[in-house]
Amino acid sequence: MQDIADAQGTPAYVYSRATLSRHCEKLKQAFAAYPTLACFAVKANSNLHYLREVFSHGLGADLVSLGELERARIAGVDPRKVVFSGVGKREDEIVAALDMDILSFNVESEFELANIARLAAERGVVANISLRINPNIDAKTNPKITTGLYNTKFGLPEALARRLIGEIGEMSQLRLVGLACHIGSQITDLAPLGQAALRMAAFCAEVRSDAPDLKLINMGGGLGIRYRDENPPGLDDYAQTLISAIRPTGLKLVIEPGRVLAGNTGVLLTRVIGVKTTPDKTFVVVDGAMNDLLRPSMYDSFHDIVAVDEAGPGAEVIADFVGPVCETGDTLGKNRAVALPSPGDLFVVRGCGAYAASMSFQYNSRPRAPELLVDGSEVRVIRRRETLQDLWSLEQEAEARPLRSACNSL
Ligand code: LLP
Repeated sequence: MQDIADAQGTPAYVYSRATLSRHCEKLKQAFAAYPTLACFAVKANSNLHYLREVFSHGLGADLVSLGELERARIAGVDPRKVVFSGVGKREDEIVAALDMDILSFNVESEFELANIARLAAERGVVANISLRINPNIDAKTNPKITTGLYNTKFGLPEALARRLIGEIGEMSQLRLVGLACHIGSQITDLAPLGQAALRMAAFCAEVRSDAPDLKLINMGGGLGIRYRDENPPGLDDYAQTLISAIRPTGLKLVIEPGRVLAGNTGVLLTRVIGVKTTPDKTFVVVDGAMNDLLRPSMYDSFHDIVAVDEAGPGAEVIADFVGPVCETGDTLGKNRAVALPSPGDLFVVRGCGAYAASMSFQYNSRPRAPELLVDGSEVRVIRRRETLQDLWSLEQEAEARPLRSACNSL
């Protein structure tokens, strides 16, 4: 890590190709007993080179935006392994996915169904769709990443889905190929996932006669990983739970894993700027911040933070690891026991392969950190560090354009 930090600077995301590839293969093995398509949740890590590696293992993509669709396309995804989720697909996004002839749209509302039907009809194509069911099952995870309850914006209640299935039967521009469900993320208890899968299988049996083209049951993603002391289920138990519930339907199983594949493939490498104490606390101020890793500030998530070099003998302190961003919430880790660090010391923040770089931003005009892929004895820069010029490159021109009407709401 020392030479990576010297050559590439800090902060930096550092991923392991070997770990990613091992995770992909282990997932495939776990589901080998049943026809299953794994569509990687691109939002977890959307770097093109990272995606190429994922797709090279035969995985597809779960997308939620045109940007993700284009990334997946550039990275060589097989369009017949693409599912498109999300509660607010815009027309241009629907059109792009229709043109790509993806495996399925995961439809989340009545208005979306109408939009897809209209756009497919205009283009003279048939859209493959799945209805995303909201089973009103609590995934027992952080409320901010819970998606299977009626108080969230996701999916369709079964009663509405049942009615829509009747209507879809009459619409020649729609083909109902699947039923989908995703109840949340960082799930560490298999019970709600199993319950949701049984619910989906039962719902499938109920509506089967009205849905002759059904071939997929999509159980989403959500399997958690260990960040601290969680005990997430293993891949085999996870696969067993889903397969045993879905097998009676005979339909192909689709899953949309993100974190379980990517989370533990990478770290955020960061350097100590200095240590300060207040009457209340000790702060280790590092050069990585909430804009590089939002999870602790946003969800109070725990990420292990470890020194790159073994600490020598010296005083241990309890410290908060914080970044330079001007927000009290800019924290990477709270109350960590650590040998008193010195300026320049390197630390890695673990569990940064998923939802770290992909959620990064430039607040406080901080250029985004590079992404580096360690591959055996080599390291590849798969995203260069942003330069200061990158920060304002979209602000070069400020050409005046006439307004056709007054901006009353301004
Ligand atoms: N499928 C759908 C429809 C999703 O909404 C998600 C995640 C996934 C699959 C992948 O879930 P996973 O296997 O990664 O749990 N930013 C948050 C996580 C948000 C997840 C959103 N949806 C975090 O950092 O914890």
